[in-house]
Amino acid sequence: MRISSSMQKALNGQISKEFGASYLYLAMAAYFAEKNLNGFARWMRMQALEESKHAMKIFDFVEDRGGRVTLEAVDRPPPDFPNPLAVFEHARDHEAKVSAGIHQLFEMAGGEKDFATQATLQWFITEQVEEEKTSTEIVETLRMIGDNASGLYMFDKELGRRGSSD
Ligand code: FEO
Repeated sequence: MRISSSMQKALNGQISKEFGASYLYLAMAAYFAEKNLNGFARWMRMQALEESKHAMKIFDFVEDRGGRVTLEAVDRPPPDFPNPLAVFEHARDHEAKVSAGIHQLFEMAGGEKDFATQATLQWFITEQVEEEKTSTEIVETLRMIGDNASGLYMFDKELGRRGSSD
């Protein structure tokens, strides 16, 4: 079944949101690199790559369904952040918004009896559970570390060990 024009439009919107998330994580990577928190910077770079893969997953899906991808503007990320905790709080809140958007798309696909789109979105729903969990855990750890410089140093090293497949 060819994708409906309304679903195509909504998924095109999601493609730009995923690229927007990628862009946001790159801005965060740049912030951390400037602060010499290279583990956090590496983690953010990996996350940016993940997000562009998410965008391409939807891109490919729209094409596979006989639809037409049209790219929209990507939101400009903040130019700076107050501190590492604020960066991860922003990331966590952003992921919660992404989840809400995916849930809306899933609901819309259900309304259209577009089960193929629902199946693809199911993957994203599961992925978002993981992404929200990870960012929330990092926020909690950074809160615990507070102003402790050696704690921040150790945590930076730990996040820098993130593998490319995460
Ligand atoms: Fe692909 Fe984390 O949203």
